[in-house]
Amino acid sequence: MTNVPLSEHDGTVTHPVTAAVARRRLLPVVVLRDARAAEPLASALIAGGLHTAEVTLRTDAAIHAIRAMATLRGFLVGAGTVLTPAQVDRAVEAGARFVVSPGFSPAVVRRCQDIGVPVFPGVATATEVQMALDAGLDTVKFFPAEQLGGAAMVRALAAPFPSVRFIPTGGIHSGNLPAYLAQPAVLAVGGTWMVAPDLLAQADWNEITRLTQAATSAAGEV
Ligand code: 3PG
Repeated sequence: MTNVPLSEHDGTVTHPVTAAVARRRLLPVVVLRDARAAEPLASALIAGGLHTAEVTLRTDAAIHAIRAMATLRGFLVGAGTVLTPAQVDRAVEAGARFVVSPGFSPAVVRRCQDIGVPVFPGVATATEVQMALDAGLDTVKFFPAEQLGGAAMVRALAAPFPSVRFIPTGGIHSGNLPAYLAQPAVLAVGGTWMVAPDLLAQADWNEITRLTQAATSAAGEV
């Protein structure tokens, strides 16, 4: 296992998959209704410079989409909206390399730890960050980020927890993205803005690539 030191921050990211998410700095949150869109979507993201996606288990197509994306060389796919240990097993069996939850579920976290898969549970308060720390985690999703106070809230919440890294998600778009990326405690920024449901419904791969390019270039500039 590699230890990847992250600049401007006291923490280190100890799992290689978490380190890979950290290098990419962006986590598109995908809600796919048709698994046949998985491959063109991944290609559109790759064309925009991003080799990662979180596929949410909110649709029947999600597991098939994870399976399809997991076969793409160099593409890192994770499962989102994971609410139960059984969903952890299904997603990981399909090829998910990491697991994201909207909140902190001890059962989901434990199942991921038992099988050695990185898990990023959602937190909204300092109490939940401490629950994550107690569970031995170093990375959490901060959700829903904008509604909870945005980048300023991430900064305030991070202050007492120098070893914790955050993946703010919820209400983030190209306009407020730089404020999040500028926070040293932010491991990566998640959201649907690059892969918005209407773009997926219209199969507008060019626009997805354009938005992804804009985001990767913003991430490169910080
Ligand atoms: C999530 O599932 O993480 C959020 O619903 C994504 O939020 P967004 O659509 O505001 O980016």
